[in-house]
Amino acid sequence: MVTTAPTAVDNDVKDLSLAPQGKQRIEWAAREMPVLAQIRDRFAAEKPLQGIRLSACCHVTTETANLAIALQAGGADAVLIASNPLSTQDDVAACLAADYGIPVYAQKGEDNAMYRRHVQIALDHKPNIIIDDGSDVTATLISERQDQIGDIIGTTEETTTGIVRLQAMFNDGVLTFPAVNVNDADTKHFFDNRYGTGQSTLDGIIRATNILLAGKTIVVVGYGWCGKGTALRARGMGGNIIVTEINPVRAIEAVMDGFRVMPMSAAAAQGDIFITVTGNKHVIRAEHFAVMRDGAIVCNSGHFDIEIDLESLGAEAVEVRDARNFVQEYKLKSGKSIVVLGEGRLINLAAAEGHPSAVMDMSFANQALACEYLVKNKGQLQPGLLSVPTEVDREIARLKLAAMGIEIDRLTAEQIEYLSSWTVGT
Ligand code: ADE
Repeated sequence: MVTTAPTAVDNDVKDLSLAPQGKQRIEWAAREMPVLAQIRDRFAAEKPLQGIRLSACCHVTTETANLAIALQAGGADAVLIASNPLSTQDDVAACLAADYGIPVYAQKGEDNAMYRRHVQIALDHKPNIIIDDGSDVTATLISERQDQIGDIIGTTEETTTGIVRLQAMFNDGVLTFPAVNVNDADTKHFFDNRYGTGQSTLDGIIRATNILLAGKTIVVVGYGWCGKGTALRARGMGGNIIVTEINPVRAIEAVMDGFRVMPMSAAAAQGDIFITVTGNKHVIRAEHFAVMRDGAIVCNSGHFDIEIDLESLGAEAVEVRDARNFVQEYKLKSGKSIVVLGEGRLINLAAAEGHPSAVMDMSFANQALACEYLVKNKGQLQPGLLSVPTEVDREIARLKLAAMGIEIDRLTAEQIEYLSSWTVGT
């Protein structure tokens, strides 16, 4: 691992003395991130990000730490802020600041005022590149710091929610610089959104509640990549799965994947556990709480805490009490209880550690290479959303397979010729 001389830089972390534990955990994660390690080593030799000011807004986890270290190895002058008030791993934040000299502004449990202050600090850094997870830094740049847009080479976005926001910015004519859609890379969403969310969401629910999933009716709200992974893994744990979805194609897919599909108005009365992964607002709301079973558990694994209408639940509550860490029981006027996990924030990062390192390896390989791509093509890219080049996506997959010790077939000359011809038919 590339290390730098220990320096405590400017930071807003909870406790710098947690750095040794953070270091141990960052190094443990690195064992599962061989693709990013190769990029880090090449970056250390080639310095493709030399002189680039970079502001990253990500969940501050052991995996993000490995990304930050790779970017620093590439020469970037990087600062890191949290992309969610509950996802920061305080030991990791401490280690990056104390041992790697990376300014980190992130504390687990930070309030909205502190979160917004950190977004401003990310912009005070006068970034040339923004790495965003949810698009808060980019949206703030565009709405409050137009004078800095000239400094921007581009932004890279990690998550579906952020991509939806960037597309809305583009449609409004305010996204005037390139934004790399990292989420769309095959080596990102097929693995991170599906297997990462699938495993880490269940991990969060189990760590928070210690309940048995086998035999429970689990309602997965949304059947995008995150929903597919969540439903798949929940079934694997013995859950009886119901999917709700608004997209008719995805709904058919869920049916043919073997799940029961119905509207939330029907699912609400049947579920023991509800998991939202839609990216949309109030997909569980008052009319649904009204028919839920006593003791039903609701949680969210979508980016923002808007999917469950907690305000309407609060309005019906006579008492809200902490039952365990990240578990709040709402006792309602009707006499029944609804249990909310992680305050409706990403349960996989609030109560667990987010996606496992092996999938973040590919997501963050995309992030690192997207930054390099933006710098190499500075001034030549169109404003708006851009894909990660297919060759980069394929190369990440090749490196991952090689690291897993898996070989695959190659096309023969005859097959290449066949695929490029149209004259041979029946
Ligand atoms: N998003 C989901 N899981 C994550 C992780 N482990 N690190 C950073 N961002 C994430």
